[in-house]
Amino acid sequence: MTHTVLRMTERLLIDPPEHPDTSKGYLDLLGDEPDSNRGAIQALWASRLGSMFYDNAQTLARRLMTAWQQPTEWLNVPVGGTALDVGSGPGNVTGALGRAVGPGGLALGVDISEPMLARAVRAEAGPNVGFIRADAQHLPFRDESFDAVVSIAMLQLIPDPAVALAEMVRVLRPGRRMAVMVPTAGPAAGLLRYLPNAGAHAFGDDELGDTFESLGLAGVRINTVGTIQWVRGRKS
Ligand SMILES: C[S@@+](CC[C@H](N)C(=O)[O-])C[C@H]1O[C@@H](n2cnc3c(N)ncnc32)[C@H](O)[C@@H]1O
Repeated sequence: MTHTVLRMTERLLIDPPEHPDTSKGYLDLLGDEPDSNRGAIQALWASRLGSMFYDNAQTLARRLMTAWQQPTEWLNVPVGGTALDVGSGPGNVTGALGRAVGPGGLALGVDISEPMLARAVRAEAGPNVGFIRADAQHLPFRDESFDAVVSIAMLQLIPDPAVALAEMVRVLRPGRRMAVMVPTAGPAAGLLRYLPNAGAHAFGDDELGDTFESLGLAGVRINTVGTIQWVRGRKS
């Protein structure tokens, strides 16, 4: 993480660390704290093997993503603004946000997995793109810090997705937009609910849209294409 990105990031943090740990190229705000997600699938993503296995899933997600307007486009990220990618994985969406905000802006990716963050740093870190190790359920940022928030294929792994969504809304500036994408199990969703500790949440068709509305977001739109659901909205 460059000195400039660290300084800009610190301004957004609720509690900037006195001795920031950027030794692995990202700002580590969790240290040795155990991960909050203990599901089998999260353990897989967090592992090196999962990081490789992940590529196949991502290729599929990218293909399906083109079925709807690109989120970075719809988010209407202002040049010189701040953008957040929650559960950034290998960081390519964070990189796209960095290009959208331009050299005077800041795009940050948050993830809990050290191997994923290491990959993201190698591939995408730059003069206006940085990565932070933190938990989506306790975002370390001050209220209303970001001009856009996006989260792709992460909420299904979170023990309490509504808490993570509330955090995303909290850090979004009024009038600004957020978008999330989750894989849906389609007709198998009902069955997955009966599996104990499946490790991933199977969302009902309207579940995320309802949560967006209950969090006060306006203009909520849901689009489900095959096994991918996008939900987007604007903070009033
Ligand atoms: C399927 S990957 C998606 C990565 C990326 N958004 C993309 O689409 O390219 C899910 C990511 O969510 C991260 N993740 C899971 N639980 C998390 C949490 N509680 N806080 C932050 N990131 C989390 C995982 O480590 C993983 O990198």
